[in-house]
Parts: sequence; C-alpha cells; structure tokens
Amino acid sequence: MSFMQWNSNLELHIAEIDRQHQRLVELINHFDDAVQAQHGAEALGEVLKELLDYTYTHFTYEEGLLMKHGYPTYTAHKAEHGSLAEKVVFMQDMFKEGHPPDSAMLLEFLKVWLKEHILDQDKQYAPFLIEQGVS
Ligand SMILES: [Fe+2]
Ligand SMILES: [Fe+2]
Repeated sequence: MSFMQWNSNLELHIAEIDRQHQRLVELINHFDDAVQAQHGAEALGEVLKELLDYTYTHFTYEEGLLMKHGYPTYTAHKAEHGSLAEKVVFMQDMFKEGHPPDSAMLLEFLKVWLKEHILDQDKQYAPFLIEQGVS
C-alpha cells in the first residue's frame, strides 16, 4: 500500500489543481519508496529535490491563480506556502551538509502538511475560484 493515499475528499474540483495535488502525493510516495528501498542519503536527497521542486512549481501556479482572481486572503495563503518552503530549505541544507533528517519523520511531516493544507486552506479558495469560472 502506498504511504499516502489519494482520496476524493482531497479533490477541489479544479482540474489542474487536482492534477498537481495528485502529482505531489505521487512524489511523496516516491520518496517513501526510496526510503523503504534503503537508498543512501544522496539518492534520497535527489528524490526529495524532485518533490520539493514540484512543490514550488505548484505553489507558484496556485498563487498566480489566486492573485489573478483577486482572492481576498491571497497574502495569508502565500505566507502558509512560504513557511513550508522555509522549513524545507532547512531540511535540504541538512542533506547537503551530510546530516540528513530522519526520513520517516520528514515523510510524516510532509504528508500531514500537504493533507491539512489541501483540506483546510486550499479547500477554502475552491468555491471562490469555481464561482469565478475556474474549472
Ligand atoms: Fe495552497
Ligand atoms: Fe495546493
């Protein structure tokens, strides 16, 4: 069974956003696969980089959409993304410096963060964007 399951509860019913969120879940699972396969810190760092690069791509896309449509709490939403990004840069530095964080804890953190962010903050903007004709 995959480490993180996608389920319909996570859907916002905005096609591109749902696709990107699904891809993030997939990349978290790739990272778990690499941990399970006991890949070394360098290989884990590579898989993690792919996940994090895509996270930034997603944040940029989402923020662009919210800004374009004048989402009232755009700034707060962007700040939430920013606080994760900061933590992640810190973790990446730990990999680079040869002191990788505990992979199981890191995975759990990313899974919980993504799930809660989608279910709470992202779900809040969905009706607003759908109302504006975003599908
Ligand atoms: Fe978001
Ligand atoms: Fe999102």
